[in-house]
Amino acid sequence: MVEYLFALLNDRLRPRWRRVLLFGGIGALVLGLLGAMLSSRPDAWTPFLSLVWRPVHAVSPPQRERPLPDRLREFNLTVGRVRWELAPGRVVDAYAYNGQIPGPVLRAVEGDTVRVSVTNTLTEPTTIHWHGVAVPAGMDGVPELSQAPIPPGGSFTYEFVATPAGTRWYHAHVNEQAQQGHGLAGALIVEPRHTEGPQPDREYVLVMGQWAAVTGTGRIATPTLGRSGDMDGMMGGGMGNMMVKASAPVSADAFTINGKTYPSTPALTVRQGERVRLRLINAGTTDTQAFALAGHKLRLTHSDGNPLARPVDAGAVTLGVGERADVEFVAVHPGRWQLRGLMPGHADHGLAIDVVYAGHEGDPVRGFSPGATLRPATYADFTGPTHLALPDRTYELTLSGGMMGSTAWTINGRSYPQTEPLIVRRGERVRLKLFNMSMVDHPMHLHGHTFQIVGIGGRPVNGPLKDTLTLHPMEQYEIEFVANNPGRWLFHCHNLVHMDGGLMAEIQYR
Ligand code: C2O
Ligand code: CU
Repeated sequence: MVEYLFALLNDRLRPRWRRVLLFGGIGALVLGLLGAMLSSRPDAWTPFLSLVWRPVHAVSPPQRERPLPDRLREFNLTVGRVRWELAPGRVVDAYAYNGQIPGPVLRAVEGDTVRVSVTNTLTEPTTIHWHGVAVPAGMDGVPELSQAPIPPGGSFTYEFVATPAGTRWYHAHVNEQAQQGHGLAGALIVEPRHTEGPQPDREYVLVMGQWAAVTGTGRIATPTLGRSGDMDGMMGGGMGNMMVKASAPVSADAFTINGKTYPSTPALTVRQGERVRLRLINAGTTDTQAFALAGHKLRLTHSDGNPLARPVDAGAVTLGVGERADVEFVAVHPGRWQLRGLMPGHADHGLAIDVVYAGHEGDPVRGFSPGATLRPATYADFTGPTHLALPDRTYELTLSGGMMGSTAWTINGRSYPQTEPLIVRRGERVRLKLFNMSMVDHPMHLHGHTFQIVGIGGRPVNGPLKDTLTLHPMEQYEIEFVANNPGRWLFHCHNLVHMDGGLMAEIQYR
């Protein structure tokens, strides 16, 4: 991006225009700073940050304003039970929004008002959580904390401003292992109001589900041991902080992409020469996933929907539960290629989808060459805005549990609701020092706020903006958020078994 800027400045523009742009850019920065300082809204730094952190704004081609016929986006979601066909002949009892799994892709432009009327036809209560969206507390969908659960036969209308832009998602926040784990999840795409540079030629949204047999209580049945080996050879050196748990049980009977298991996942059609964006959403229940596309390089542009300061070329992309990645590839190798889940056992249980070039529908599927080594991108590769300020308040949180087969998962030795609430004041910068003192991943999700990774293993970084951070075993991170959305909020592990086991704390504004 920066190189592009300089190239533009030096090669394309006459000196007079160079000056105009330079001073224009500085003027915009000063105005942004002044505006942020004068504004009484504590979150006013956000647009300013985006200005600083993507300087290409100043000279990029004229911004394309999207047509705004109506800034209110209305949707209806009916929550019900269905019999769902994961693959021909494989039908399961499931939950669905509007009878479909995943739920419909909801699209809005940043700043639009989104209004979603939800009707609950279940025999149990439900709610919807808008994961990654800065909704007002009363719209966050956490039963008792932020709203009364929607009773059987009841309805509720969610209304919020679509912000920030990016790949967001929505899911049930009641009896999650059963409801989210068996269909109640969908994508919410918030388009940026201004787009910069050429957009991808084509886009697909892939919502990954993870299915387990449930008993009457909604607990996941005894896991079966998955086959290891998929990873071996495919991901050799440079594993970074990704831990491969070769012996980890696959706690699922099936993995789905957009509701189907491979090879029933409908292929993604592309044309030669196109730049294709995939919005990947791990809407599973417990497992960290990893993906690679045979024959193509993936370029990771957004993490949890938020743009990276610099895109990252990745051999593979990993996603803890709840995390999203926007990746792009250029369709330069005609044929039929597999996008494949790389964690042991995942692809064998259905986590794959074909990318098919137009005219090559009949080609045999091509996978990875034997012994290929794919380097997954890690958080250390991701960059975000420059982090300047010091925190007003710091909490140290040690994540642990699961000892000797225990079902209790803890923060600082306590399980929710005994965990100590994190008290914040409006406007504060709050830092959380997180340490995973256990041998499994914890995808930690903060409701209602975006945080930045500011430290990895004790080293300060200008890391990415996220809402879900996966700590691999024994890892340590520092994250920071601005307390700009008063209410009661959850900070919890998105592994639903850990969440139910108490790995959760409350954020309370004083
Ligand atoms: Cu995506 Cu509390 O959840
Ligand atoms: Cu966890």
